[in-house]
Amino acid sequence: MFTLGIETSCDETAAAVVEDARFVRSSVVASQDDLHAEYGGVVPELAGRAHVEKIIPILRKALRDAGLSWQGLDAVAVGHRPGLIGSLLVGVSAAKAIAWSLGVPLVGVDHVQAHLFAPLLEHERETDEFPALGLVVSGGHTSLYRVEGPTSLARLGGTIDDAVGEVYDKVATILGLPYPGGPRIDALAREPGADDRMVDFPVSRLGRDSLDFSFSGLKTAVLYEVRGKPASTRPGKPQPDPAPPMTEERRRGIAASFQRAAIRAVTLKLGRALDANPECRALLVGGGVSANSRLRADLAGLCARRGVSLRLAEPRYCVDNAAMIAGLGAHLLEAGEVADLSLSPVPTTAC
Ligand code: KG4
Ligand code: ZN
Repeated sequence: MFTLGIETSCDETAAAVVEDARFVRSSVVASQDDLHAEYGGVVPELAGRAHVEKIIPILRKALRDAGLSWQGLDAVAVGHRPGLIGSLLVGVSAAKAIAWSLGVPLVGVDHVQAHLFAPLLEHERETDEFPALGLVVSGGHTSLYRVEGPTSLARLGGTIDDAVGEVYDKVATILGLPYPGGPRIDALAREPGADDRMVDFPVSRLGRDSLDFSFSGLKTAVLYEVRGKPASTRPGKPQPDPAPPMTEERRRGIAASFQRAAIRAVTLKLGRALDANPECRALLVGGGVSANSRLRADLAGLCARRGVSLRLAEPRYCVDNAAMIAGLGAHLLEAGEVADLSLSPVPTTAC
């Protein structure tokens, strides 16, 4: 069974064909990074317009790469939540038109849940490792789940302020690195001589049993480290504390120290979640930040110590893509979750 996946929730226009819910026959992703780079972040109106221009050529390429005609498709799955409303609208409209004209089922897919499904793509057999823990670390989300199966999950915790990828991008901007900053910080922190102990940035713990995350304090700490601490407005409080001049060595050290603190915050909560859910013997990880080399290494260490099997999405399926949408869409279809032409884009996640 061939499922066409369509993903336009943010700034990637993507289409993919997946066979039998897990074998990727084609996956095409057109990034808009160049378009948004000069603004240091995604400009929603520009993103929506770019999707309109790119969607048809990207869909055609996905079919061509898969060696299929339109008539070869059995279902259409589309990421319809969460995301930028103008961006989602383009994918949802295209998916409805295709499904209606071919007379095949239409499925609406939650983008965050699809990130969790990405580690299961290309695996020969269904994992028998449920219940599992699931972690989504992306530009918009940092959430922990208990996963009972590909279409069944319960949220255990999530960020109470910024998502970890958003903080990577903001810290990169503070350090003068171009957008998107996550991969740049990853590379800078890997450079020889990058000292991850240069600055002792805070690791948020929240309550003793909390499975939530908070990254805004870390972001502010990096800002103060780079630009200096402003004077307190309260009388008798500390004077401004200027920052030392920025050098390449300092930039590398701050990037590596930030990364150590950000990833420690993630692994700390994962450790707590494993303690609270001892029957979960596998960890599924997806989302753009799961492409990070240090996170991947630290998760491998944590899982080895805990005797838990680690399922990381392949790097190309960590960032936004349509293969994860098609794969999860096929499972949802199997579970009878078919949408009709009233399917609408929704800016918030269902999970
Ligand atoms: O999953 P994704 O493509 O989009 C959302 O659903 O948000 O994630 C994009 C995020 C961006 O914040 C980007 O900087 C981050 O993933 N990212 C990384 C790396 N590659 C992408 N962050 C850290 N290290 C990386 N190697
Ligand atoms: Zn995403």
